[in-house]
Amino acid sequence: MMYGVPFNRPTIVGKELYYISQAILNGHSSGDGGFTRQCHQLLESSLGVPKALLTTSCTHALEMSAILLDIQPGDEVIVPSFTFVSTVNAYVLRGARPVFIDVRQDTLNLDETRLEGLITPRTKAVLPVHYAGVGCEMDSILEVARRYGIAVVEDNAHGLFGKYQGKYLGTFGDLATQSFHETKNFTCGEGGALLINNPAYIERAEIVREKGTNRSRFFRGMVDKYTWVDIGSSYLPSDILAAFLYAQLEARDQIQEKRKRIWDTYYRELYKWGESNNIRLPIIPENCEQSYHMFYMLMPSLDLRQSLIAYLKERGILAVFHYLPLHLSDMGRKLGGEPGDCPVTESVSDRLIRLPFYNDMSEDDQALVIDSIRNFKLS
Ligand SMILES: Cc1ncc(COP(=O)(O)O)c(C=O)c1O
Repeated sequence: MMYGVPFNRPTIVGKELYYISQAILNGHSSGDGGFTRQCHQLLESSLGVPKALLTTSCTHALEMSAILLDIQPGDEVIVPSFTFVSTVNAYVLRGARPVFIDVRQDTLNLDETRLEGLITPRTKAVLPVHYAGVGCEMDSILEVARRYGIAVVEDNAHGLFGKYQGKYLGTFGDLATQSFHETKNFTCGEGGALLINNPAYIERAEIVREKGTNRSRFFRGMVDKYTWVDIGSSYLPSDILAAFLYAQLEARDQIQEKRKRIWDTYYRELYKWGESNNIRLPIIPENCEQSYHMFYMLMPSLDLRQSLIAYLKERGILAVFHYLPLHLSDMGRKLGGEPGDCPVTESVSDRLIRLPFYNDMSEDDQALVIDSIRNFKLS
């Protein structure tokens, strides 16, 4: 079905197609060409991270993180059940056992007060997901992780350029992962990045990303031939994708401004309606600057969530929901997940609705969504 107001629509800010032609004319359209390097430099200097490496997806950046942490069968990793499957799957691929942690009622981020109670001698890592680009309570997460000697990997798929305590998301953990999938603020269709804050991982990350070879060192003239030195895979994107992405990252202020306007309009226009109908809008704590990645609402019940989605669909508007609790998925149940393990996750997952949100959403399209929602009969 064609929607008058889709959930997401990819957009061009300006130089994307020109840069793609440049990538080809430069004679280096495979990975790690000039545009990839420019993306790395832009991410490193704007965020202040020691090393950024583009990857083919956030999923692949997460897989790289699990390899770099040397995750072995039987190791445990603490992950929210309320996340995308890749946060967990990347670690299960290496034989880890996920230990699911519930989320906070307000931000839907992992509940840091439960973290310490889930740590065992086998715990290797915790994966805070900055849901909707609103920062997790990194101060206490880092304090607990340091005390127990476990690694922190931020899944920052939603949160590029968001901040916690005035510092960019993705700069707190040993490692952090970004997504440039079509639905994200900045995109190249499919893409991602690994941010490396702990320099001890840099050299091996380059090897793992280049099929387990020391090719990056060879290109820098540090070795006279390259060879197979470790496990790895092909995690680097084509420079054609990096060219598209670079144009988007260069226009980051313009993109973020547009998204802020859309988010603020939803909030301003739906706040009172939400309050009088027991519908909760996002909560942004004082110490967080969000990334304006998504606008969601928490409905009073599953029935009302489903009927609002169906009602909007009749009006040509696509609204969606996510995430199904991972501990209750087929795979999660095989790994021992039981109903009741993460009660906040289970409740939120039934009631959350995400509204259409894309960079060049017109005022008319947004007004249609808002008016339709306000006219929805809740009883
Ligand atoms: C929290 C989170 N992590 C990871 C991913 C995976 O990203 P990608 O599609 O770039 O692999 C997503 C995808 O939307 C996500 O929402």
